[in-house]
Amino acid sequence: DTTRQSPENGATFVVVANRLPVDRIVDENGAVDWKTAPGGLVTALEPVMRQRGGAWVGWHGAPDEEVESFEHDGYTIEPVPLTAEEVEEYYEGFSNATLWPLYHDSVAYPEYHREWFDAYKRVNRRFAEKAAQVAGEGATVWVQDYQLQLVPSMLRELRPDLNIGFFLHIPFPPMELFDQLPWRREILEGLLGADLVGFQVPGGASNFLRLVRRRTDHRVDRDRAKLIGENQHTCIARAYPISIDTQGFSDLANSPEAIAEAEQLLSDLGNPSTVFVGIDRLDYTKGLRQRIRAMGELFAEGTLDPHDAVFLQVATPSRERVEEYRRLRDDIDLLVGRINSEVGGVGRPAIVYLHASFPRATMAAMYRIADVMIVTPLRDGMNLVAKEYVACHPGPDGALVLSEFAGAARELRQAYMVNPYDLNGMKEAVMKAATDTPQNKRRRMRALKKQVSENNIDKWAERFLNDLDAKGETAPEEGED
Ligand code: G6P
Repeated sequence: DTTRQSPENGATFVVVANRLPVDRIVDENGAVDWKTAPGGLVTALEPVMRQRGGAWVGWHGAPDEEVESFEHDGYTIEPVPLTAEEVEEYYEGFSNATLWPLYHDSVAYPEYHREWFDAYKRVNRRFAEKAAQVAGEGATVWVQDYQLQLVPSMLRELRPDLNIGFFLHIPFPPMELFDQLPWRREILEGLLGADLVGFQVPGGASNFLRLVRRRTDHRVDRDRAKLIGENQHTCIARAYPISIDTQGFSDLANSPEAIAEAEQLLSDLGNPSTVFVGIDRLDYTKGLRQRIRAMGELFAEGTLDPHDAVFLQVATPSRERVEEYRRLRDDIDLLVGRINSEVGGVGRPAIVYLHASFPRATMAAMYRIADVMIVTPLRDGMNLVAKEYVACHPGPDGALVLSEFAGAARELRQAYMVNPYDLNGMKEAVMKAATDTPQNKRRRMRALKKQVSENNIDKWAERFLNDLDAKGETAPEEGED
């Protein structure tokens, strides 16, 4: 269908992301259906897509397969294919074994391979070409995350008429780390193709602007870079802390199903008096080794009684073909097994560890029963689990233990803050959260709940897209850094 894809009547709003917002469901007769994938970004952008008449460009998640574009829930899905080799070099390699560790404080060793970057460039070009093909004249194109940092400049070259936004969901590192990257200048120039680059925290925006000043020839003035060369434009860099569908989560957690599931969970756990919960993708940035060690010591020393308290840790399988993730999985299995074999006795273990993914309603039930929610990443762009807990936990009696190295720490200031590298400090904060006075807990939870209900995902999308439409005519918010 070439008419729909011509610039004259193409989409006025295009999201470009590594992954599509749909999951493929194949029934027993082999019939294929696509279901909206769970997730914050999809929930946030779907209403905008419907309203603006949108298209979503992304990879459907399987190698070596071409999928035709199709309509879904009032917008167009535009699949971009990847070969098995590209999955290995662009996705598992450059995105998740180079950029991911580098951008997260190098908490794992980033690997640099020239073939991986070549594949990254090739795949980024494919995404840019697809976006250029489906976007209408003067459309707004919003590119998402670290897998696609070259797309803004590639797209601007193909379609200078477009309004191009980019949002980085993960941290943007300081110059001292970013400088390691052999392709640092290409990445900066790639991002600079956007009219607006959004970061989770003001520090990301200032790291980026400092690098542009030092490593490119463009002029930087306050929150913007003035590009030199033929395609002169201005690239603005600002912080837009992402959030969740707060009302949606709270409704889900208060549904009869979630309440029943929470009761079942509690009784399955033997109705302990204190439930500590951690829920993370199984990723080395999440601080799982340190957290489990700290909890293990609390049980081993007798500060926590395994008959009375339980630590429920969910780790969602992730990027399982990447070496560092395999190593992590083995380490955690070993650590949990060792602790559980040494504390408690027969019966329910002290640490209930689940390596599995669960439906959203079950997660909501887990948030409900968590007396203390433990979110202790070594580095995290935002961390939405922290916000989901605040939205889902009923009443004002919960407690959130939060790493100062999560983007969310800037907003969720009433959490019990920890440095996840400081095991004693972490143990103290966990115990303080568990044993604090009801008045203190309530005061903190109320403030947290106010924060996430006032700053939801709609606000986030609206703030970014308004600034992008205005091309920076609106002033940056005061006192952000
Ligand atoms: C992080 C990234 C996302 C990514 C998600 C899941 O939140 O910021 O871009 O989609 O992890 O990882 P995966 O590699 O499975 O897409």
